[in-house]
Amino acid sequence: MTVVWMMVGAVTNTSAVFSARVTGGPVRIGVSTSPSFTSPAWSASTTVDSTGVAKVSFTGLSAGTRYWWRVEDNGVVDATYTGQVRTDPVAAGQPASYVLGCIGDAGLTPTVPGVTGAAPQRLSNHPIFDVVRAKALAENWARVCHLGDICYYDLGSGSHGLSATASATQYRTMWDDILAQPLQHGLYRSAGLVYVWDDHDFGPDNSNAASPGAANALAVYRERIPSYPLPGGAGQPVYHSFQIGRVLHIVSDTRSARVPGSTMLGAAQMSWLSTLLSTSTAEALVWLMPTPWLGVSSDTWAGFPTERNSIVSMLTAGGWTDRMVMINADAHTLAIDSGKGGNAGSGGFPVVLCAGLDATPHSYSTQYDSGAWPGREQYATVQVDDTGSDIAITTTVYRRERAISWVTVTTGGTTRIPAGSPCHVLAL
Ligand SMILES: [Fe+2]
Repeated sequence: MTVVWMMVGAVTNTSAVFSARVTGGPVRIGVSTSPSFTSPAWSASTTVDSTGVAKVSFTGLSAGTRYWWRVEDNGVVDATYTGQVRTDPVAAGQPASYVLGCIGDAGLTPTVPGVTGAAPQRLSNHPIFDVVRAKALAENWARVCHLGDICYYDLGSGSHGLSATASATQYRTMWDDILAQPLQHGLYRSAGLVYVWDDHDFGPDNSNAASPGAANALAVYRERIPSYPLPGGAGQPVYHSFQIGRVLHIVSDTRSARVPGSTMLGAAQMSWLSTLLSTSTAEALVWLMPTPWLGVSSDTWAGFPTERNSIVSMLTAGGWTDRMVMINADAHTLAIDSGKGGNAGSGGFPVVLCAGLDATPHSYSTQYDSGAWPGREQYATVQVDDTGSDIAITTTVYRRERAISWVTVTTGGTTRIPAGSPCHVLAL
């Protein structure tokens, strides 16, 4: 009766969703405001599925509060792992200041491969995960947002010693293997996780809707990831949104409905976006978009100019373009574009690349007017400061503990970048 792994996500000011795999079942989730887990409150008993997984929605939490959490498996509390999660400070719609972490890309020629798993050379257990976890706890991050390539299993390709069947069992094994890396597991149980895939964790390299495992990837996401409600419904892309304070966050699924040369998001996701962007009462926007907006290859938004133009039109019509930032991963580099450099079709808002954790660095394009820093052990934070009137969103890119550069956009319509030349001192 033990815990195999546990994750937490879908955080609000009063609730969270806990996902756990155990050897027995049923499970209960306990939450305590004490690091020593005194006087926990317990969820109802929840049955596990045939693979030992349960997702538990826990309501009635206090706002702005850090909780320590454990899993009870068939009546036995397993104290091996104690997770943490911090609830949002206020209900959506009220002013709030907070920090998000943004990460992506771990397991392509990893410098610290997986310690176990079906394909350890396509996984990472790099100490950078612990650097990010420590920062998340020290800075009370509201979320850790993983923008994909959480591993490089390329299911369906038949590569890396993995069969090409792309079965649901393989996708479940992929998640078991990711969470068997101690330092990744430590992170995903210590702050509210927001996860969406990119190509290598959805299917093969540059994967799309035709990926042989597409239906299984979509199904296993729903089984295991503690996500917000998915408006697409069963079997559909996993795009979703959430709001913290007065800021809307959009999480895009750029793979499961992609048809090269035609659409990246698919008609349903585009329709949902149109409605969301025209009806949201939020004052600012953080867009979590795995695929690079300013790319040059056909696998990026450069390959979908018509759809990108449609999105820019939605953003312009809603008045969002001067009160938003977009975060991308996939390209293994940090990079910042102010939005003011005249990239054709970009929309004119800041775009930040936040990768990668432990993947082959990419020398990326020169489209980023405020710098690009290829490398490993890299991530970003998004800090929102809401005074009750103006909101400032500052996105900072990091290598290890070191801040490299930043960009700020305010709802007053001002974009700021560091004075002088961008920092280009870091080598690959
Ligand atoms: Fe990647």
